Amino acid sequence: MEFEIVDKTPIFQAFSELGKRIFLPDGIFYWSGRAKKEADIIGTIGSAFGFEKDFIDGGEERWVPCYLKDIKQFFNADVTNIVPYASIPGLIENRKKWKDWVIKKSQFIDRYRNKKEIFEKFLTLPFLTPGITFGIYTCCSMFLNRGEFIISPDKRWGNYDNIIEKNLGAKIQSFTFFKDEKIDIESLKKAIKEVSKTQDKIVLLLNFPNNPTGYIPTKSEAAELITLFKNTAETLQKPIVIICDDAYEGYPYDPEGIEISLFYDLIDLDENIIPIKLDGITKELLMYGGRIGAITIGLHKKWFVSDSDLEKCKAELENKFSGFIRSTVSNSNIFYQTVLNALLSEEKIELTLQNRKKVEDMLKDRYKLINSELKKIDSDEISIDPNRGGFFLFVNLRTIKATEFADLLLRKYRVGVIPIEKPQLGINGFRIAYCSIDIEKIPELVSRIQEALKEYN
Ligand SMILES: Cc1ncc(COP(=O)(O)O)c(C=O)c1O
Repeated sequence: MEFEIVDKTPIFQAFSELGKRIFLPDGIFYWSGRAKKEADIIGTIGSAFGFEKDFIDGGEERWVPCYLKDIKQFFNADVTNIVPYASIPGLIENRKKWKDWVIKKSQFIDRYRNKKEIFEKFLTLPFLTPGITFGIYTCCSMFLNRGEFIISPDKRWGNYDNIIEKNLGAKIQSFTFFKDEKIDIESLKKAIKEVSKTQDKIVLLLNFPNNPTGYIPTKSEAAELITLFKNTAETLQKPIVIICDDAYEGYPYDPEGIEISLFYDLIDLDENIIPIKLDGITKELLMYGGRIGAITIGLHKKWFVSDSDLEKCKAELENKFSGFIRSTVSNSNIFYQTVLNALLSEEKIELTLQNRKKVEDMLKDRYKLINSELKKIDSDEISIDPNRGGFFLFVNLRTIKATEFADLLLRKYRVGVIPIEKPQLGINGFRIAYCSIDIEKIPELVSRIQEALKEYN
C-alpha cells in the first residue's frame, strides 16, 4: 500500500515501526463498500440478516440484522442502529459530530473564534476507539518503538505506566511536574533535551485537568508551554508529537486556568509539531462504561502543496489508524455511538450542554470547598498541589509514608483515598477523588484527615 502524502510529512518520521508498517487492506471493506453501491444481491457482510417477520413474532417485513427480541426492552432506538457493526474508525455521522463538538468547545472562547476555519480544515475527522485508554494505547503504539521514550509529568495517571512500559516496552521520561506551585518548565525542557539526544522525534503525553492532581495550567503557564514547544520545534527540527489526554476537559473551575485543552494552541503552531487530541464520552459526557474515545490529529498547512493533498493525507491517516484498530479491537460499541449521535444532534446539543453544566457546577462547588477546608489545616506535613479542575486533587506528605497514612485513614477514620508512592521520583502523597464525595461530607472528610495527621505529632 502506497502512502503518497503522509510518507512525506513529519508524522511518518515520527511513526514507530508498527506505525510505518500498519495499514488497512482493501479486502472485505473494499468489496462490501462497493457492493453496497453497485450490487442488488449482497453476500459480503459477515452479519446475519433476515426479514424481521421471519425471526421475530410480530416483526415487520423489513430486511434487518437478526437480533433477539428481548434486547428491545433495553432501548427505544431502532435495532438497525444497535445491532450492526459500527465502521472501524466509528460511524461517520458520529465522527463528524465529534469533530464539530471539538470545534464547538473552542468557540465559547474569544481567542479561538477566528480560528474556526483553520480547525475545520486542518483537523482530521476523529477516529473512535473503545474509550480514551485505547486512544492512548493506539497513539503510543503508532509512535513508540520498544525502548523509545515518551515524556510525561512524574505525577500522572498510573495506567500510562501500564500501557507504555509494561505493555509496549517503551519508556517514560518523567519531568518534575511542579516547582513553587507552578509547572516546572525547566524540568520539562531538560527532559526534552535528554530525549532529543537519542531520538529523532519527541513524543509528549500531557493531561490537563490532570489525574491525579487536578492541575490545569494558568493562562500564562500555558503561554510559556506553547513558547517552549515552538522554540523547541524550531531548534530541534525534529517532529514533536504532543498527545493531549483531555479526558477531563469541560471541568475547569478557576478563571486563571486555561478553559480548554492546550491542543487548540498547538494546531498550526509549527510544521514540526503534531498535536493529537484524545477525548471522549467517559467523563465529558458522563458515560464511563460507554467506551467511546476519539483521536483527532492536527495537520499543518506547510505539509501540503494543495487542498487535495491535505484531503489525501487525511484519508491515508484514516487508513493507518483504521488498520491499527481493525487489527486490535476491530471497532467500537455501536449502542453508545447511537446514544452519542442523539446527544450531539442539533435538537439535543444545547440540552446536553445545559445538563452537563449542572454536574460541572456541582463539582466546582466541591472543588472550592475542599480546597478552602484543606487550607485550614495548620501542618507542615502536608502540601496541596496546584489544582484548578477535573475530578481530583493531590495531597503531598512530607515524612509520613503515603500507604501507611491511607491505611490509617481507612482503618481508623473510615476514609478512602488513593496513596501514590514513587520514591525514585520523590512522590509520596494521596489523591482525593472529590468528584465522588457529597459536598456535605467534605468538612468531615478534611477534619478526619486533620485528626489522622495529629497522630504523627
Ligand atoms: C487521565 C486519564 N486518561 C484517560 C482515562 C481513561 O478514560 P477511558 O475510561 O475513556 O478509557 C482516565 C480514566 O480514569 C484518566 O484518568
